[in-house]
Amino acid sequence: MTASYPALRLRRTRSSPWSRRLHAETVLTPADLIWPLFISEGQGIEDPIASLPGVSRWSVDNIVARGREARDLGITCIALFPNTPPQLRTAAGEEALNPDNLMCRAIRALKDAVPEVGVLTDVALDPYTAHGHDGLLDADGYVLNDSTAEVLVGQALNQAAAGADIIAPSDMMDGRIGLIRDALEGAGHVNVQIMSYAAKYASGFYGPFRDAVGSRGLLKGDKKTYQMDSANAEEALREVALDLAEGADSVMVKPGLPYLDIILRVKTEFQVPVFAYQVSGEYAMIEAAVAAGAAERDAVVLETLMAFKRAGCSGVLTYHAAHAARLLRG
Ligand code: PBG
Repeated sequence: MTASYPALRLRRTRSSPWSRRLHAETVLTPADLIWPLFISEGQGIEDPIASLPGVSRWSVDNIVARGREARDLGITCIALFPNTPPQLRTAAGEEALNPDNLMCRAIRALKDAVPEVGVLTDVALDPYTAHGHDGLLDADGYVLNDSTAEVLVGQALNQAAAGADIIAPSDMMDGRIGLIRDALEGAGHVNVQIMSYAAKYASGFYGPFRDAVGSRGLLKGDKKTYQMDSANAEEALREVALDLAEGADSVMVKPGLPYLDIILRVKTEFQVPVFAYQVSGEYAMIEAAVAAGAAERDAVVLETLMAFKRAGCSGVLTYHAAHAARLLRG
């Protein structure tokens, strides 16, 4: 017989801070956090992003300082996104293949100065194309799958050669994980991981990110022919299954909070490392609520990050990483 009230009082274990800590089913630590950082050309640059209050683009020298900060805070990994100068953006995004592009210089500087912090690099062409899409366009503006995937392989090899630890394809082309894995093996990068943006949705929450990498004004149309429809969950499981079969070490669900159901289903179905990307629009929404006096930042930051862990995530990409790590370290 199961006890019931008054023998059973679920409030009993909640009645003191030590007991709440003792009974916590989920833990959140700075080691769970991946910190996305935007890179810009120049020296000594901190260039604030208006639609992402509290987040800046940093020149490579300042990125290194952020790397040291991450290490000191116990953050395990940094994710890099370049704001490519406009004159280097082309229809085919060739700058993505330049071994001395902004991304590669930042990777080398970070691995040089703070090798103990992981460096995750985004694979997709949108920071390099003049049209803001993640791949190559045909005459009708459709993003070509197979020829894009070929360029992405080159981009991934370029990043791995510069020292990237985790290659994170965010482009949603079919078949690219297998092609990239083969190419990495062929080039001897056997320990370079792939974290696939496996379930990436066409979302209204990416706006501030596109400002940060300078692609918002350039983007024609939307990304619905390659990113997923928010109506679909089974399709997310198929995407994850394919990326795992092709050699992904871990998978990502993106955006984060609106897709907690997807995270839970992926974790339940596959028992593999799952990561969430709490994206720019989610960050901006929290900051707007804080600015409006509608929410208390520290509480909602930790609560949302805990939600990802509770849903089954191994970790979370979040622009609040440094702030959250400070809070978690007391
Ligand atoms: C690029 C990419 C995007 C994000 C990460 N990689 C934008 C997009 O797909 O348009 C969004 C991240 C964020 O909003 O914080 N492929």
